[in-house]
Amino acid sequence: MPLPTTVAAAGPAGHATPWLACAVPQGRLPPSLSALDAQTGGALTRLYESGDFQGKKDEASLLHPPGPAARILLVGLGKPEEGGRSQVRRAAAIAARRARTAGVGEGAFFLAPEGRGGLSWREAGQVVAEGLAFGAWQYTELKQPPEEPKPELARLMMLAPEETAEVERGHAVGAAIGAGQSLARGLQVLPGNLCTPSFLAARAEELASRYGFGLTVLDRAAIRREGMGALLAVAQGSAEEPRFIVLEYKGGGAAPPVALVGKGITFDTGGISIKPAERMEDMKYDMSGAAAVLGTFEMLGRLRPAVNVVGLVPSCENMPGGTALKPGDVIRTHQGKTVEIVNTDAEGRLILADALSYAARFKPVCALDAATLTGAIVVALGHAAAGLMGTDAALLDEVRRAAERAGEKVWPLPLWDEYRDQIKSEIADLKNSGGRPAGALTAGCFLREFAVGFPWAHLDIAGTAYSERDDPSRAKGPVGMGVRIFAEFVLGRAAAQQ
Ligand code: BES
Ligand code: MN
Ligand code: ZN
Repeated sequence: MPLPTTVAAAGPAGHATPWLACAVPQGRLPPSLSALDAQTGGALTRLYESGDFQGKKDEASLLHPPGPAARILLVGLGKPEEGGRSQVRRAAAIAARRARTAGVGEGAFFLAPEGRGGLSWREAGQVVAEGLAFGAWQYTELKQPPEEPKPELARLMMLAPEETAEVERGHAVGAAIGAGQSLARGLQVLPGNLCTPSFLAARAEELASRYGFGLTVLDRAAIRREGMGALLAVAQGSAEEPRFIVLEYKGGGAAPPVALVGKGITFDTGGISIKPAERMEDMKYDMSGAAAVLGTFEMLGRLRPAVNVVGLVPSCENMPGGTALKPGDVIRTHQGKTVEIVNTDAEGRLILADALSYAARFKPVCALDAATLTGAIVVALGHAAAGLMGTDAALLDEVRRAAERAGEKVWPLPLWDEYRDQIKSEIADLKNSGGRPAGALTAGCFLREFAVGFPWAHLDIAGTAYSERDDPSRAKGPVGMGVRIFAEFVLGRAAAQQ
């Protein structure tokens, strides 16, 4: 369950709460906190005067002052001129994370208006809600509860003494996106023995019945009848049943849908071209693209924007069983092109190929995919940004702008013919790996062969889907990458259709 958050038309002073977090810009104590300062007997002034807190980005100071707020956490937003959506979202995440670890049952969050930068009240409400949901997220269900459990953080309230209705409007959007991102993270975090393709299909079914989405789930026999030879080929080395999941949200009348495609490998051993043991456990995250698609549908169900969206999730395990695909095998894809398998660890592009060619039947206005596709993207962009590739300059620009609003970084990469040449095969129409050089781009070129008949953009999220270290705003582990980009993109489309 995502953390419930609400908006209240109240200021930070006089608010009785076990926990009050205030996000402030770098510099002096902002005037909007003067009344609170007076109520605490000048505790905030003393904190500033001591030099212990300046409001730098990510800086946080906790006080136990006199007055109706038992604890006050000041969180720095950094320099006002650098302020923006990301900084506010991040400060809210830090506040929520600290509230959760402090063991308070509830709390309040106040964004000092001096730190709002160029954001509208509505935007501020949205990104605060996103940040609170992000920071509060945790997963403890597979551990024994502690003997003396701390109280669970049950709700957070956003204080908005000014323009409360506008803040509330933004908050509703941000809370829905936050719930979608939490759903995605909850799927990502699960190990491969629990989060199987059938498990993902069951979660899609829950979403469909809760929100009234159309749903089609293909099992192994139906995948075979559909002619999805590439998905079937990857799935054939595992005893675990594959699934092909189709979710349909209709909010946009007769308009053609946006197609969202997510890689759903619930565990990637590499298959016969097996991966080294070191950190192989992280390959439970190889369904992060699928999680992003399902998370986006959670948002769609809550907000019901005026747009049509179809979600496509090809899902299976990549295992080296006795019936597994072998290097040298040639398979036939759903679209008809044949592929020589030179590396069974390049499996994501195979299952996505069938999903992209299946997408054509919806005559989508465009298709976006998210996939933990290549180690090469981690070499190129590290853990800072997803690789963005595709076929249509206007669409790529639209995705880039959505990503900017979302605060999930992407960076464009080219799909030149030189890279296409690397995946020519002597025996088949294509081979599934172009070797080490430009590995993220040859993978993109491979996908492009199957994204025919609609503008298409691809996000390689292998370096950004999960975090290997803790930082103040986010715990180590799954981050739900892609949900906010997908959400901003489809909400942008809905706004344009109005
Ligand atoms: N799932 C991996 C990519 C990956 C790497 C995800 C690191 C997350 C973190 C993908 O299926 C894969 O194995 N790709 C190969 C392709 C190669 C064999 C052409 C890779 O990148 O090594
Ligand atoms: Mn692989
Ligand atoms: Zn993979």
